[in-house]
Amino acid sequence: MEASLYFAHIPMKCVTIIPKSELSLGDESLPYYVRFMSKEDIAQVDGIDREAFPTQWPAANYRHELQNRLAHYIVACDEERMVEKSEVKTSPEKGFLGLASRVRQLFNHNRFLSNELLPSGTEYIAGFTGFWIMADEAHVTNIAVRELHRRQGIGELLLISSIDLATELNARIITLEVRAANTAAQNLYHKYGFTQTGVRRGYYTDNKEDAVLMSTENITSASFQAHLRQLKQAHSRKWGIALYQIAR
Ligand SMILES: CC(C)(COP(=O)(O)OP(=O)(O)OC[C@H]1O[C@@H](n2cnc3c(N)ncnc32)[C@H](O)[C@@H]1OP(=O)(O)O)[C@@H](O)C(=O)NCCC(=O)NCCS
Repeated sequence: MEASLYFAHIPMKCVTIIPKSELSLGDESLPYYVRFMSKEDIAQVDGIDREAFPTQWPAANYRHELQNRLAHYIVACDEERMVEKSEVKTSPEKGFLGLASRVRQLFNHNRFLSNELLPSGTEYIAGFTGFWIMADEAHVTNIAVRELHRRQGIGELLLISSIDLATELNARIITLEVRAANTAAQNLYHKYGFTQTGVRRGYYTDNKEDAVLMSTENITSASFQAHLRQLKQAHSRKWGIALYQIAR
């Protein structure tokens, strides 16, 4: 079953709504938005994976993951850029209009319109992430941003959206493992409240590098959610107003 179809049954509980006061004309919006990964995205995702990780997943793994009911994959798309322009009939609206359009989609009676309006597979994907839900734990399997677009807040956009989605899916903690030498990723996770919970010696097969195990506290706790709200506000101030809600 396609991941997006599976999610159609998930009740919306944890919607990140941009305060009206932040939606004033003239505000810049982040040109990236987040939606569920589809099979048409796999070629781009595979390219990002190859660039980002020393040991790659074969593209077949991503196809398999999209059929896996426990797995949840999302992509960050650039609303101002298409991969194959000749195949695109209409250009998405840009800037504030683009944001307003996405807000309208979120509050549209038919929420599933969004994927029709934004033809899947033609959008330029800047990064992706995924996690598995196992009981009350969401385990991040990978997160990667194209080298060209790093340090532009996209990793944070993906992580925030994942945390919101995991909360929606009734996860209570988020766990992951990260290479001991990967300080960029560890900084990102620390910023979002992950702490080290252990080490797996020689975990990575290519160079026998240790894996650092990290976990959040209870993501539904008032303290975690308050911290997350602050981080979202800081992210929007720095990079432009973002819709962390995932287009379905
Ligand atoms: C880790 C990764 C996803 C971060 O994505 P990104 O879009 O560049 O990250 P952002 O711009 O959103 O940065 C968010 C935070 O991450 C941390 N960070 C990101 N890149 C960093 C770097 N090169 N050095 C130090 N800290 C870094 C910082 O804490 C940063 O917050 P700040 O801007 O307030 O300093 C990206 O570097 C990547 O794709 N790496 C290769 C794949 C990978 O290692 N994935 C992790 C597997 S566990």
